[in-house]
Amino acid sequence: TQRVFSGVQPTGNLHLGNYLGAIVNFVKLQETHNCIYCVVDLHAITVPVTVWGGPDELRRNTREVTAAFIAAGIDPQKHIIFNQSQVAEHAELAWVFNCVARLGWLNRMTQFKEKAGKDRENASIGLYDYPVLMASDILVYRATHVPVGEDQKQHLELTRDIAQKFNNDFSASIAAQGLGDAYFPLPEPVITGPATRVMSLRDGTKKMSKSDPSDYSRINLTDDADAIAQKIRKAKTDPEPLPTEEKGLEPRPEADNLVGIFAALAGKPKAQVLSEFGGGQFSAFKSNLVDLAVEKLSPIAGEMKRLSADHGYVDSVLASGSDRARVIAAETMTAVKDIMGMVRKK
Ligand code: TYM
Repeated sequence: TQRVFSGVQPTGNLHLGNYLGAIVNFVKLQETHNCIYCVVDLHAITVPVTVWGGPDELRRNTREVTAAFIAAGIDPQKHIIFNQSQVAEHAELAWVFNCVARLGWLNRMTQFKEKAGKDRENASIGLYDYPVLMASDILVYRATHVPVGEDQKQHLELTRDIAQKFNNDFSASIAAQGLGDAYFPLPEPVITGPATRVMSLRDGTKKMSKSDPSDYSRINLTDDADAIAQKIRKAKTDPEPLPTEEKGLEPRPEADNLVGIFAALAGKPKAQVLSEFGGGQFSAFKSNLVDLAVEKLSPIAGEMKRLSADHGYVDSVLASGSDRARVIAAETMTAVKDIMGMVRKK
């Protein structure tokens, strides 16, 4: 059976990259799969507390991401929406996987190197261990498909390596438990659509990110129509008209990014966007992009604001999601303990 899992950190400034790279695909997959979508609060605290903002911010951001999931169209009755810290099995399986994953594997993780920066001695152990916890998030549900943006590809490869090593190391015991020849599936990343890597509106070579100091670099999901319009009008471009074919976008990162954003919002391939706007000036294209972005994003922003203020509702969605998630996660943990020889009364 196929199961989808993905997570989003409650670290503030949910942006267009998170939406087009990940959340849009979460919404699509719910038509065909059983889905589990997690607000990963245990991941959020891997950066310094001055960065994640402390308890009030964490509560606010957790509710905001939950509200974004629902506002974007995920149905919390049919699928599971919850926050990671309410299901203890994520951290429990992470310990087991800490003993499966190798130092050499984690030393290759590029996101750690970027986030730790020059002052690596001062990074938290949690930041280093982040990808192992992520593998546990996915595998504790034995998920088969993981919709994410391009930047998470390496973490998904590590997840597969951990699953494979566990399956190999304990293959005899897995078979003896009557669980077949592999316990964990090797989950596949789902990285699709024209906007798997949305770039900064100020610099087409940098990823759009929650932490960019310039608010003009990103469109936040909570931005109102005026802010969206201003940011798109000010977005960096080059002086040439738009190309008529996709290969004309290759040496033009800013143009490529805006066309990708248009395509993703419109639900069309980039080639079709270029057949409409190719040869024309950016100003005309941008005003069409403003209209499209406002049409698609404003209703989400409005609904997010309304929902994230309704703590009673949001917190109960998270509680009931956690209860349902815990049942699956507990089953996995029991099997893992039996496979590894951890004694319990049966
Ligand atoms: P986070 O919160 O940083 O990002 C959430 C999702 O948004 C995608 N994304 C982007 N996609 C396209 N363009 C961008 N500029 C852009 N920026 C972010 C991310 O790829 C991600 O899919 N490690 C994860 C959270 C996580 C997780 C998991 C994901 C924890 N456990 C298990 C999947 C499965 C992350 O960085 O999220």
